[in-house]
Amino acid sequence: VMDKINIAIDGPAGAGKSTVAKIVASELHYTYIDTGAMYRALAWKALHTDTDIEHEASLISLLENTSIEIYPGDEGNKVFVDTQDVTEEIRSSEVTASVSAVSAHYGVREQMVTTQQRLAMKKGAVLDGRDIGTVVLPDAELKIFLIASVEERAQRRHRENVDNGRPSELQTILKDIQVRDEKDMNREISPLVKATDAVEIDSTRLTIEEVADKICALARERISMS
Ligand code: CDP
Ligand code: CDP
Repeated sequence: VMDKINIAIDGPAGAGKSTVAKIVASELHYTYIDTGAMYRALAWKALHTDTDIEHEASLISLLENTSIEIYPGDEGNKVFVDTQDVTEEIRSSEVTASVSAVSAHYGVREQMVTTQQRLAMKKGAVLDGRDIGTVVLPDAELKIFLIASVEERAQRRHRENVDNGRPSELQTILKDIQVRDEKDMNREISPLVKATDAVEIDSTRLTIEEVADKICALARERISMS
């Protein structure tokens, strides 16, 4: 029996992390864990309780009184906040607009990271996020830094909205992504940066399958080495 490895996938919004992570996990019979969904869940709860997202102590106390459950499954992760299924709601534009402020607080990240590390303890996990290769799983056997041009990433999100019958405006999405990337890359705590030992993949001109194949090939190589 081959040993299982952990796979870290980081990168900016819309690079294709979650789509590709799901495929890779399914190919390898690994567990996919969407760490962004955990920050989104807390942002959702903050919005619903009128909690000041700039105020760290309020958010930490909110987090202490909130149950956030992640259930891995074939179609991605199901997310529950205090037993309510919020899988769809955490993708709203309101949550998207506030999540980077929520995730910038040290005390929030500290707790999220501990939970994420516990979920990956047994190996055989694919985690996607911003700080997986640098902070959550610095010892991950395979680290991917997935990028794409901001125009392409905005197009993808726009297409996704249109396909799902959601209102969408390309210029607004482009702006929103730029603002969020800027916050995620320049925050003090665990900013989005490429780990020195990460493999960078530019998906701008690659299909989902091409990216997934590349990562699976790298994973099989690392599995056989481990
Ligand atoms: O899917 P998308 O790229 O839109 O975002 P996401 O992965 O759901 O993450 C939402 C937000 O959570 C990001 O913009 C970051 O502010 C934060 N995040 C983080 O700080 N660290 C992670 N490991 C994952 C997400
Ligand atoms: O998780 P992240 O924010 O990095 O991106 P995603 O939600 O996985 O992907 C955003 C959108 O881009 C999805 O609708 C994917 O189907 C699409 N996509 C694509 O068109 N080509 C790729 N190579 C990767 C993703």
